[in-house]
Amino acid sequence: MLACKGAPARILDVGAGEGVVSLRLAKANPDAVVVGIDYAMMQVRAANRLKKKEQVLNCSFQQGNAMALPFSEAAFDMVVSVNSIKHWPDPARGLSEIRRVLRSGGQAFISEADRSVSPEALLAFSEHYRAWYIWGALMRWCLRNVVFGKSYTAEELKTIAIRAGFSDTITQAAPGPFFLLVLTK
Ligand SMILES: C[S@@+](CC[C@H](N)C(=O)[O-])C[C@H]1O[C@@H](n2cnc3c(N)ncnc32)[C@H](O)[C@@H]1O
Repeated sequence: MLACKGAPARILDVGAGEGVVSLRLAKANPDAVVVGIDYAMMQVRAANRLKKKEQVLNCSFQQGNAMALPFSEAAFDMVVSVNSIKHWPDPARGLSEIRRVLRSGGQAFISEADRSVSPEALLAFSEHYRAWYIWGALMRWCLRNVVFGKSYTAEELKTIAIRAGFSDTITQAAPGPFFLLVLTK
């Protein structure tokens, strides 16, 4: 799990969902302050329930839109976003908002499903996460056409990040059919 150099670190998780990544980051960086934001209030409530259950004090959740982050310029040392950007109506705008709230030299870690995933890798992924209550062919169709099909390739997202003002972009492979984009301000 990512650990921040220098303390105290201010970390933002955009599209935090049920808070799993934010809470792991908070536990891995006990001196940091982690904020998770999500567009859906239902997710914010679920994240707050998990935070309470896991008794993590250095993490908070709030409702917010990646298109207009409710924070001032340079408010964070690090920003993460996991499997959320494919849902944003304007990813360039979201990445430019992330750049705005990052301090100079700060890094953003953007992870997403790889639209260029091979049929073999997708099959292996769907077999690994097979759920007894979903018909296998339906699950593969959804993964191919909805989850991965509506996502980006690493190259596409890198181009969008450059459009958003990031000149320093590195693409890394992530576990499974996902990629990680590391953007430095
Ligand atoms: C697939 S979930 C990923 C959740 C979490 N990052 C994880 O990996 O477990 C995507 C999340 O992005 C959120 N989301 C979608 N559009 C958003 C936006 N414009 N601003 C903030 N959050 C957004 C959704 O509400 C959802 O909770």
